[in-house]
Amino acid sequence: MHILITGAAGFIGKKLAARLARDCKIEGKPISKLTLFDIVEPEAPLSNGPEILTNAGDITETGIATRLVGDECGGVFHLAAIVSAGAEEDFDLGMAVNLDANRALLEACRALPNVPKYVFASSVASFGGYMPDVLDDATERTPQTSYGTQKSIGDLLVTDYTRKGFIQGCALRLPTVVVRPGKPNKAASTWASSIIREPLQGDEVICPVHDQQPMFVTSPATIVENMIKAWELPAEDWGMVPAITLPGLTLTVKEMLAALERVSNKDVVAKVKFVPDAHIQKICDGWPTHFETPRAERLGFSKDSDYESIIRGFMGNDMVQNN
Ligand SMILES: NC(=O)c1ccc[n+]([C@@H]2O[C@H](COP(=O)([O-])OP(=O)(O)OC[C@H]3O[C@@H](n4cnc5c(N)ncnc54)[C@H](O)[C@@H]3O)[C@@H](O)[C@H]2O)c1
Repeated sequence: MHILITGAAGFIGKKLAARLARDCKIEGKPISKLTLFDIVEPEAPLSNGPEILTNAGDITETGIATRLVGDECGGVFHLAAIVSAGAEEDFDLGMAVNLDANRALLEACRALPNVPKYVFASSVASFGGYMPDVLDDATERTPQTSYGTQKSIGDLLVTDYTRKGFIQGCALRLPTVVVRPGKPNKAASTWASSIIREPLQGDEVICPVHDQQPMFVTSPATIVENMIKAWELPAEDWGMVPAITLPGLTLTVKEMLAALERVSNKDVVAKVKFVPDAHIQKICDGWPTHFETPRAERLGFSKDSDYESIIRGFMGNDMVQNN
């Protein structure tokens, strides 16, 4: 089976590619080829079998989707995206990457002789506006950002292409994935990773929101697990609605820092300085933070057990010591 991963040089794409190259199979079927695509040249992970093709290019380029899927692609993990603040800053770029390229990729998949799998990385940013205190899959999606709107339309497209039998797809609304390695990115949620990553790596960091700010989070390991689970889940289990919010944990900044102290010490936590940023706080005030995900859990999707394990996962896999 030939699998395409878009956004393969990104945070989650890289980890998903490494996992598939290591496992060599999905749904019990051998993976013969992994095409890793990104605008940044993806690194080839160590492979226990699949041929790895790395491909740098712009997913918005006309005709590229068709070239990427070729005529024997078994399915796509579509992760390439312009993240929240990036799509808000540049409306046209967000629309081109997050919406138009998704549609082009769906059309390329539709043209395949087989019915390919299609796992779309959506987001809880699909929710917004007037929301209940606790959201679930039945909550109306009224996003308040361009990114959330693009992801929400993506959910509907993937659901409709699946209903028509063009693909066997699903859209996964991801919680915020922490702890992201490397540098802060353009996501308005980037502080959630920074307040853990920077202090552990020996650096001071500014937290732009108050300590009672909650966030709905998951770990990269659990997301990779859940993406593979989503691919493998039979169509009959997905039923009429192949789009769900994935399970996560809701924690306040204060609870995150208490967990950080439990896995490190007070001096590490003291590197977090609170400098309120009204713009970021306003964005965060509009986010959905408390979810119930009974359907995802019933379908067998995983949930992180606690925040300490998420931090330890970062320390074991991604941390770099700066000082
Ligand atoms: N990380 C999270 O907290 C989170 C939460 C919700 C949803 N998601 C979604 O999950 C997916 C993966 O997230 P991530 O954290 O790995 O993001 P990321 O930004 O690390 O990766 C996205 C990748 O897309 C690539 N890309 C952007 N424009 C492109 C273009 N024109 N052509 C080709 N590639 C392009 C980027 O270079 C990047 O490597 C995204 O679709 C994101 O919207 C992530």
